Amino acid sequence: MAQYSRVLDAVALITLQNPPVNALSGRVRQGIVDTVQRALADPKVKSVVICGQNGVFCGGADIREFGSPMTGPPLVPMIHAIEAADKPVVAAIEGVALGGGLELALGCHYRIAQAKAKVGLPEVTLGLLPAAGGTQRLPRLTGLPAALDLITTGRHITAAEALELSIVDRLTDHSAVDAAVKFAVSVADQSLDARRISSRPCPCPPDLDALFEAAMRKVRHSSRGATAPVACVQALRAAATLPYSQGMQREKDLMATLFTSGQARALQYNFFAQRAVARWRLPGGARWDGSKPRPISKTAVIGLGTMGRGITVCLAQAGLSVVAVEVQEKPLKEAKQAISGMLRRGAKRRGVAPALDLITYSQNLRAVADVDLVVEAVFEDLDLKTQIFQQLSNICKPGALLCTNTSGLNVDLLASQSRRPELVVGMHFFAPAHVMKLLEVVYGSRSSPEAVATAMDLGKKMGKVGVAVGNCRGFVGNRMLKPYMEQGLFLLEEGATPESVDGTLEEFGFAMGLFRMSDLSGIDVGWKVRKGDGLVQPGAESRVRQGRRYSPLGDLLCERGRFGQKTGRGWYQYDKGHEARPDPWLHRFLEEYRARHGLVARRIDRQEVLERCLYSLINEGFRILEEGIAAGPEDIDVVYTFGYGWPKHRGGPMFYAGMVGLAKVLERLEHYQQTHPDVLYMQPCGLLRRLVASGSPPVHKWREIIKNTHSKI
Ligand code: COA
Repeated sequence: MAQYSRVLDAVALITLQNPPVNALSGRVRQGIVDTVQRALADPKVKSVVICGQNGVFCGGADIREFGSPMTGPPLVPMIHAIEAADKPVVAAIEGVALGGGLELALGCHYRIAQAKAKVGLPEVTLGLLPAAGGTQRLPRLTGLPAALDLITTGRHITAAEALELSIVDRLTDHSAVDAAVKFAVSVADQSLDARRISSRPCPCPPDLDALFEAAMRKVRHSSRGATAPVACVQALRAAATLPYSQGMQREKDLMATLFTSGQARALQYNFFAQRAVARWRLPGGARWDGSKPRPISKTAVIGLGTMGRGITVCLAQAGLSVVAVEVQEKPLKEAKQAISGMLRRGAKRRGVAPALDLITYSQNLRAVADVDLVVEAVFEDLDLKTQIFQQLSNICKPGALLCTNTSGLNVDLLASQSRRPELVVGMHFFAPAHVMKLLEVVYGSRSSPEAVATAMDLGKKMGKVGVAVGNCRGFVGNRMLKPYMEQGLFLLEEGATPESVDGTLEEFGFAMGLFRMSDLSGIDVGWKVRKGDGLVQPGAESRVRQGRRYSPLGDLLCERGRFGQKTGRGWYQYDKGHEARPDPWLHRFLEEYRARHGLVARRIDRQEVLERCLYSLINEGFRILEEGIAAGPEDIDVVYTFGYGWPKHRGGPMFYAGMVGLAKVLERLEHYQQTHPDVLYMQPCGLLRRLVASGSPPVHKWREIIKNTHSKI
């Protein structure tokens, strides 16, 4: 709703009230319409200020209402009525003005922002476009290039940048409401003609076609099949080429096609999934309400390789002091330089001072004696990690948390090396750690809920999307990746090329196909693990391992020194840059390999590539749910969209399975199981069968079926 009050007698103050972000629900819109009418009808009121309660102007349309029949007055005529008012209306922006919130402010005649406020039109990130005049008013204010940037990326900008772009008229370091009221009094009798943005022309550069062609190329390249960014460019083109009212109609038509699309549903699901996983919980929905995070101020990172450096940067940028330990002198010196450089570059980008003083470096493990939390980030070697955990257990003060950055080692085993297993948790960062958003927080069988809550809280402070997962080999992300990668290798054996598999996956929307990803992360990583497990015999080409189909292709490449990008050769060849180029050597190698094994190459269509790679990954996801390694499908989907380049406009693997139809996924898995009986993981998971037998409920109802009694988290 919207509260009406009077200040200084001549100013009507309208306060949006809809916790937590004053989203524009039907009731709020009705409240605005009623209070604006009241203010305009009262002869004593000379000007109007619109603000939001609790220091937040407005977070935009109420996303919770999407999908339900609309109630209350529509936004577009409401904003038009404000713009057409004959008394000045001033928006007092505190906290955020996003989406419909900013569009409401653009309908006002003036905008005053608190210096710490953020504004933006993020609809594109929800599969939509700003359809309350945002695509038509913003370019009239900022010009087309800035509007194209803001609307197609959806990025939130600072109040200072908004001032520079003329989106707001003034900034204040104090209360935006007080400043807006004062300002409203000062402009009470001024003409509003020039203040109505919709009546202004849209400033257009002479080479309009070139501008829009470049913009379209850019969004098509970066959006990887998402339709909303393309529609945003089309709507902005309408602003540039059509009169305002026709532009508004175009905006409305484009929105109509987006609003009911699967992509919008997927992106909105992902928005709520991201927030739901932050409230980590038991399968079945119960929350760990009792477990409060511990306060952490002093931290340590052990091992300053690539991961340790990135983690040190994250901790320091979160304002925590860090003892960074590297026992060898030369690597310590190199790490110091690298970390300082990353901090300086990050600080420059964010317009703040680099947090160099928060880090102390040491070659001695004893330097971590008084920290509250340690992140061990040495190489992925169980013996080395075990040794360090034994030492940390003696050195660290009682109560200090011991976290291990591992991408798949057994957290329980490490915990058992410490005298405080309840304070041991896994923290799986993704490389580069200071850039990637995902953090898997691994809950060992003896980890206390308080320790997990502390690690989750720390993740949030570092700006990560933390997902609590159970302890198993590869946790959620890497475990699901294994069958996906293996299917890629089988496809090569049967006649595909890295380019054809990657092309199909990238067309689906992945940031990177599986072979390009493998080259980037290093083919040797898995090879070394398999060698450590005694599973690789040099030169052996057996296609069966432990009674199951196995492809030795990755091992064979590693034996030839082809580790991926770092050696300039892998599934592709690389010159100086990171551009993957098809490699004729690899094609010959595959042909010879097939010939040696009597395999006849066949043409494999895109559908088969997609089904085999994606459904094997999804099937493993169902197993993870069944075993209680992830609390719900949302957790898996957040892991995949934030850590593995799964396209957000397809929700995540589990949401996607629901979109395809669970019965169809089951039927195709059964088909591939019959044609590949020696690939055990193609056997459909029992949970998938149960879901199909229950009528394939929508993804948010799966928990009712999962009812897991062996939760690992
Ligand atoms: N409609 C409904 N609920 C919203 C909302 C919206 N537009 N924006 C945020 N919320 C809810 C969140 O779901 C969350 O609810 P929860 O506590 O029940 O999980 C709560 O507000 C807080 O949001 P959260 O994102 O956790 O807090 P934050 O302080 O980190 O970020 C925002 C706040 C507003 C910056 C962020 O929520 C956001 O970007 N919202 C979306 C804005 C948007 O896209 N608007 C256009 C809609 S078309």
